[in-house]
Amino acid sequence: MPVLVVVGLQWGDEGKGRVIHTLARRAYAVARYQGGNNAGHTLVLGNNEVLALHLIPSGIVYPNVRCYIGNGVVVDPKALYEEIGHLAKRGVRIGRRLGLSPLCHVILPYHLSLERYLGEGSRLGTTQRGIGPSYRDKIARLGLRVLDYLNTPRFQERVMANVRELLAPFARPSEIRSIERETFETQKKLAPFLKRLLADVSIEITDALSRGRRVLLESAQGTFLDVDFGTYPYVTSSNPVAGYAPCGVGIGPKIDAVLGVAKLFTTRVGEGPFPTEIHGALASQIRETGLEYGATTGRPRRIGHLDLTMIRKACRLNGVTHLALTKLDTLAGLASLKVCVGYSWRGKIFKDFPDDPEILAKANPVYKELPGFSGDLTSVKRWSDLPGAAKRLVDETAAFAGVSPAIVSLGRKADNQIVLDAGFAREWLTGG
Ligand code: IMP
Ligand code: MG
Repeated sequence: MPVLVVVGLQWGDEGKGRVIHTLARRAYAVARYQGGNNAGHTLVLGNNEVLALHLIPSGIVYPNVRCYIGNGVVVDPKALYEEIGHLAKRGVRIGRRLGLSPLCHVILPYHLSLERYLGEGSRLGTTQRGIGPSYRDKIARLGLRVLDYLNTPRFQERVMANVRELLAPFARPSEIRSIERETFETQKKLAPFLKRLLADVSIEITDALSRGRRVLLESAQGTFLDVDFGTYPYVTSSNPVAGYAPCGVGIGPKIDAVLGVAKLFTTRVGEGPFPTEIHGALASQIRETGLEYGATTGRPRRIGHLDLTMIRKACRLNGVTHLALTKLDTLAGLASLKVCVGYSWRGKIFKDFPDDPEILAKANPVYKELPGFSGDLTSVKRWSDLPGAAKRLVDETAAFAGVSPAIVSLGRKADNQIVLDAGFAREWLTGG
């Protein structure tokens, strides 16, 4: 019963979507286990068409792959409806291949209003999709789940109570009534649509695993946006770490492999500490070459040197068994590369990426300088054909992390990659 978790080791946007795109072809099912439509997974298809997914797992592009949205995900019914419509226009038909857990909490218009009233967009740099307020209601035991969305009297009663209590400090009564009206109208329109997607995700995945089928659990965001382990409070409101994956789809904690995805430089979108951040010409060059703009909000991503202490810590937190290192091609042409191997503060050296935001803000990264490399790497298919300095960057990263690299990606398309681990390839990429 093989379960593979694919998890981001930095602040999201590591290239999980493209990696899952290559793995999902052989999977029976792909399931999302946390987050919501704050995510943006960019896939580049064979015909160079670019597809941005937000809520639907990246496996959906293969007509034989079943996709699930697990109980740990928060779902904006309108966003889901629009994403399915968008996919249909691009020729990707969902049919009966998408299963939605009735236990998912929903994001309602009042969550979007609350996030605005609370100023979380400017304070934390959130994606303003209502993610934080929806998870907050879940933990406060006020939330509405998909199964409540499908029960109109219960839905209306609970929405009215919530909206009146939660929005009262911020909104005029007429505004509150108009939010209520919008919520009820949307629910009436979209409840039949959600109903058709319902699936008992826990039963279906357990059943697939007992038949020996391959299941991928796909995280959104990244380890340093995790609400427990990330750069709190500049984090998302869920747990992207691999340990949450079984909980977020309703299976027991048996995972066969954890593929940690890390980009060979660092990016962050939104506010919060970023000790290896760089500015100026070098940052712009990497941003333009790597097309580092948010897939959900279009914001330019902040750019920084590779932080090996983050990768090592994330490998520990997630129990990473295999590494996928991405965007090696983006670094081609730089004279040299700096990688962070520790932090110094008040005469002390920290080998682990610090938890304390004050230390993160004040400590100085300790860099190791590696030689640069050049040339167009996108079509390289064999490890031995890579420039020596490119191989060295991969090797140093894997050695520091203590995990061997399984995949190195060199371009936007699924096949722009080198697979280094034959065992992993047999199990997840080429097996029957
Ligand atoms: P929220 O998830 O919208 O509440 O945003 C919280 C933080 O997580 C902000 O810094 C966002 O920019 C960041 N974030 C949320 N989703 C993603 C993602 O998919 N990729 C990168 N950053 C994200
Ligand atoms: Mg993204």
